[in-house]
Amino acid sequence: MPAAEVHLFRQLFDAASSSYTYLLADPSGAAVLIDSVYEQHLRDRALIEELGLHLVAVLDTHCHADHVTGAWLMRQATGCRIGVSDGYAPPIEGGDLRLAHGDCVEFGTARLSVRATPGHTAGCLTFVTADAALAFTGDARLIRGTGRCDFQQGDAHRLYRSITEQIFSLPDSCLVCPAHDYAGRTLSSVGEERRHNPRIGGQADERDFVGSVENLHLPHPKQIAVALPANLRSGRPPDGQCPRPADWGPVRRTYAGVLEIEPGWVAEHLAALHILDVRQAEELSGSSRIPGAQSIPLGELTARVAEVPTERPVVAVCHAGMRSAQAVALLRAAGHTRCANLHGGMLLWQELGLPSRPA
Ligand SMILES: [Fe+2]
Repeated sequence: MPAAEVHLFRQLFDAASSSYTYLLADPSGAAVLIDSVYEQHLRDRALIEELGLHLVAVLDTHCHADHVTGAWLMRQATGCRIGVSDGYAPPIEGGDLRLAHGDCVEFGTARLSVRATPGHTAGCLTFVTADAALAFTGDARLIRGTGRCDFQQGDAHRLYRSITEQIFSLPDSCLVCPAHDYAGRTLSSVGEERRHNPRIGGQADERDFVGSVENLHLPHPKQIAVALPANLRSGRPPDGQCPRPADWGPVRRTYAGVLEIEPGWVAEHLAALHILDVRQAEELSGSSRIPGAQSIPLGELTARVAEVPTERPVVAVCHAGMRSAQAVALLRAAGHTRCANLHGGMLLWQELGLPSRPA
């Protein structure tokens, strides 16, 4: 189980790069995000916001070759610091929390100790919770595997020493949280890897390990030409722009994947929007609706989707905002790219006293 002071522990996955991202928080909500992925920025940000966390830092275990870090985007969004290894030359641009062996990253009452575990790259770090319950090993230690050592100043002899001296010295019960897995495995433990890791576990010595790692003959990571230069600037995109869920309004994507917009903004921009009310006909009698709203019950929307005009962005509404979220998914599947769910539905709309008329 996570360390006592680590109140919250989440493992997130990016299927395109088979990468794991980890979110940790102390009881006050102070949080760190480890090994974020650029394309998952909106997902990770939504989770942080929904859980009411305050992100102190976004950390990278190393300069990744197979995906672009989401560190710069997260700093733009939250003002957090970017923690990177100072073991790279030239140093990673944008990192304002330079980390080296023996350092500590504090978030509220929780902290991670930093262990240098080079070998996969020259600057690899492992982050360990204060009670040694969790170790974030990056690509130094994978589940039943280890990182490769054939680029980014990789060195199999250094990796052997890093694993045996810095990771295998942790308690057997310490959970190993890797940066990747390609076979559906999520977590392991130091004891389990010490016994069963086919490259460095059991009776394997340095010669066995180096011989196996130097003969992996893996293809270069598909994204390396894009990922390495981008990661050397902490994932800052060349145009310096943050991705947005929509270009027509302040739409946000929830952790559930729903595109939502706030009622206050919708009320101010009613003339530029098309409101689609998906409540049942019997619900409408005696209730009120947003002026100009088109009524198509959710159950009829698939058959009648051609009736929804495409000239203006569509905002779907229902009683509480659940069915209209489904309506947005149906609209998107039907080719409506500019649409969002009205957060809170008519309930919140009326609570806020926004314009409505009898249905
Ligand atoms: Fe890596």
